[in-house]
Amino acid sequence: MKKIEDYVLSIPDFPEPGIIFRDITSVLQDPDGLHLAIDSMQQLIGETEFDVVVGTESRGFMFGMPLAYNLHKSFVPVRKKGKLPRETVSMSYDLEYGSAEIEMHSDSIRPGQRVVLVDDLIATGGTVEASIKLVEEMGGQVVKVLFLMELAGLNGREKLKGYDVASVICYEGK
Ligand code: PRP
Ligand code: MG
Repeated sequence: MKKIEDYVLSIPDFPEPGIIFRDITSVLQDPDGLHLAIDSMQQLIGETEFDVVVGTESRGFMFGMPLAYNLHKSFVPVRKKGKLPRETVSMSYDLEYGSAEIEMHSDSIRPGQRVVLVDDLIATGGTVEASIKLVEEMGGQVVKVLFLMELAGLNGREKLKGYDVASVICYEGK
């Protein structure tokens, strides 16, 4: 029986020299890989009680949506700046070079709603940290933070102290 690791292709020197890119398209394009990825993430949610799956553009959509659908919960997107048509809350965060900004509709989470936050990958943790801040700004409670993959060498988890964090697979390096 194949494991998730067997479906992830590791591409050296992409997008720049020295970086190993962990490609999730090779997981999704295989029907068994797709099922294994979603089922494994769903298992990590376990018995956690929650109301909403929040997924961060764009790869967080690929994993968050099927989980929300399977578990009959609502799905709320975190989008990159300038895509949402109504009133938004927004948050800037640092990238390795420069910065980025993400947004949510300001009525997308109601105070007290319990949120499972989903993304494909945690690297430095900047993206997920900003996503958590947006949810909390609206009064949501992040009860689980879920990834398919974790790059442990970048210490992203240090930004998530106090949260319930889980990932299906963990790479020791960067
Ligand atoms: C990637 C990945 C995570 C984030 C992880 O997204 O999908 O969202 O980077 O990095 P971090 O932990 O250092 O923040 P990216 O911004 O490349 O955009 P994409 O999802 O649209 O491909
Ligand atoms: Mg992303």
